[in-house]
Parts: sequence; C-alpha cells; structure tokens
Amino acid sequence: MDAPTAASHGSRVLVTGAARGIGAACAARFVARGATVYVSDVDDEGGRAVADSLGPSAHYLHLDVASEAEWDACVQTIEADGGRLDVLVANAGAAHRADIADTSLADFRRMLDINLVGTFLALKNANTAVKSGGSVITVSSLRGILATAKLGAYGASKFGVRALTRVAALELAERGIRVNSVCPGSIDTDITGSEDFADHDVAGYVRTIPMQRRGTTADVADAVVFLAGSESSYITGTDLVVDGGLAAGARTPTHTSGQKA
Ligand SMILES: NC(=O)c1ccc[n+]([C@@H]2O[C@H](COP(=O)([O-])OP(=O)(O)OC[C@H]3O[C@@H](n4cnc5c(N)ncnc54)[C@H](O)[C@@H]3O)[C@@H](O)[C@H]2O)c1
Repeated sequence: MDAPTAASHGSRVLVTGAARGIGAACAARFVARGATVYVSDVDDEGGRAVADSLGPSAHYLHLDVASEAEWDACVQTIEADGGRLDVLVANAGAAHRADIADTSLADFRRMLDINLVGTFLALKNANTAVKSGGSVITVSSLRGILATAKLGAYGASKFGVRALTRVAALELAERGIRVNSVCPGSIDTDITGSEDFADHDVAGYVRTIPMQRRGTTADVADAVVFLAGSESSYITGTDLVVDGGLAAGARTPTHTSGQKA
C-alpha cells in the first residue's frame, strides 16, 4: 500500500463549506503547510474572499454539496487542473434547532440534504477523486455522538455522517484511502447565528465543558490536519472528538458549588 501523503508541501486539498468558520480555518492551515487548496462553498463572495486572502495556492470553486451535478463539475475542474486530490475535507454543514414536534419536514430534509447527502456525495466522489494514499475527513459533531434535545434533525444528520464515514473507511481501505471524522463540540462560529439559537445559553453551556471554554476553529483545523497527514497513517474509520472533554463523561455533583468533584 502506498505511503500516506496529505497535509504536506505540494499536496492538493478540497475543503467544502470553506467560505468561513471551520472550513476557512482548515483551508488556511493547509495553505500554510504548502498545499494547493480548493476553497468551495455556495457563498461565492465569501469563498472568493477566503481564497484571495490565502494567496495563489488557493482557488475558489462553487460547490453546493447537496448537488450531484455540482460535485461532478467540481471534480472535473480539479482533475483538469492537476489530477486527483490528496485530501478531501467534507466540512460544509448547517444547523437547525427545534423540538422534533416543531421541526417542519422541509427543515428536517434541509438538514439531511446539506449535512448527510452532502457527506454521502463527498464520500462517493472520494472513490475516484482522491489518490491512493490520500485522506478524507468528514465533519460530524459531538451532537452526532450525544443525542441532544432540540437538535433532532441536526443530530440525525451527524450520527449518519459517522456511520457513512466508517463504511467508507472499510470500502476505501484497499485503495489506501483513509476516512475519519472529526466531532467538534461547541466552536465559536456563525453556525449558531440564526433565530432558532437565540435562547441558547452559551455561558451556561460553557460551564458544563471540563476545559471551561468553547473551541476555536483553529482547534478543529489542527485535528483535521492531523487526520490528513502521515502522523495518523494507521488511523481510519474513527472519530476524533474535539470538545474540551465534554463527551468523556460527567463530573459527580457536590454540595460545594464551583468546586470540582
Ligand atoms: N460550530 C460548531 O459549534 C460546530 C460543532 C460541531 C460540528 N460543526 C460542523 O462543522 C462544520 C462547519 O461549521 P461551522 O461552525 O464552520 O459553520 P459556518 O456556518 O461558519 O460555516 C458553514 C459553511 O458551510 C457553507 N454551506 C452551507 N450549506 C452548504 C452547501 N449546501 N454546500 C456548500 N457549502 C455550504 C456555508 O455557506 C458556510 O460557509 C459543519 O458541518 C458543522 O455542522 C460545527
């Protein structure tokens, strides 16, 4: 089997949903390591701005991850521009927050379309668009591990991302392509900027995180770069949780407030 390539000088990387947030941080990290990066998104203005800010090694490509035709066009463009990818980061996503009873079928389907169908199409294309020795990283969520009230549609999509990632890891292993997920906890980005997150108590949430802080986009980009590179060459089909310790378990409650058990 070929040695893993990946997050190194001269490698070729596609990041979906890279016009801002975690995707933009990943794109910047790969460019800093000498890779050629395709910054893709549905937000053409934001995506172009990210690519322009990263210099000549970054190129913007429009890609709605839920569209099979747009994946075909994007992969053809990348191949014509220099061949297969070393790394594919399936990061694009959106969130919706409501009880199941209050979630419209349209919103449920929108979550599945962007987060789950988008990841399915990334993994389907990985079979031909990624080189042997390459690495695919999907972006699930802590909410794809822990069921969370009001995140039914989002959680269903993100549990599904982890399932698809493992299946793809099994199927692509013989081609030497590794496939893993990152599962971020609460990361400070615009994804929770919509009205349905308006009553979300961020400060209260942070108090439940063992490390007592939200994550940064750089925290997630570090994990993605690790999974892309040769330092993770024997890791496939797994989840890398980036959550400040929240999924590790719970502290035992005590009568003394503010003190750790
Ligand atoms: N921020 C968090 O707390 C957090 C936690 C866990 C997982 N995640 C996951 O991380 C990923 C990135 O989220 P973020 O926090 O950076 O959010 P963000 O909203 O800042 O960025 C998401 C990007 O995806 C793009 N996008 C949306 N729909 C798309 C589509 N159909 N095709 C292509 N691009 C599309 C948006 O335009 C945007 O640029 C998502 O998959 C999200 O579910 C985020």
